[in-house]
Amino acid sequence: MPPAAAQHPRPLRPTDVLKHEHRRLEERLGTLSAALELLGERGAENSVLDRIEETASHIDREMAVHHRKEEEGLFPVLTPYLDRHLNLDGRIADHEDLRIMSGKFQTAIDECRADDADLFAAQMLRGYGLYIVHLVLEHLLKEDQILFLVAEHCLSAEEEAEVFRRFQSIDTSVSATV
Ligand SMILES: [Fe+2]
Ligand SMILES: [Fe+2]
Repeated sequence: MPPAAAQHPRPLRPTDVLKHEHRRLEERLGTLSAALELLGERGAENSVLDRIEETASHIDREMAVHHRKEEEGLFPVLTPYLDRHLNLDGRIADHEDLRIMSGKFQTAIDECRADDADLFAAQMLRGYGLYIVHLVLEHLLKEDQILFLVAEHCLSAEEEAEVFRRFQSIDTSVSATV
């Protein structure tokens, strides 16, 4: 006889959707790190810069939608349950920092393209890129291990349904612009 959990699978929760997006972002961040490491070996070859730029722009697009789901979907519904120690503003500030760094990262890519013989520019791009990857991974870990735990513990079925409605409207507005 199958276990009870197999007979009655737990309903999907908003945090499951966000965690799934985290795993996809981690995969892309792994691809970005591997391409950045190549800069240390070969300098700023165009094919490597192309791969870095393409992967970074995928990450930017996916993170923009993901951040909207958190900032407009989960966070407003979760706010009443958070005490000062959890510092929701800190997480929104993280998002803003990551957006700013992504703009600077693009500038570093452009500088490498301007002079592909400049090994220093390639090394700076590599170092800066790996640092951003580290910060994003740390942010995902914080949410997975702390914020989402609070959400899963506190939100009622009605509140989770409200978060899902907000996710749906974000997905609809994004697909209308693609
Ligand atoms: Fe986030
Ligand atoms: Fe997140």
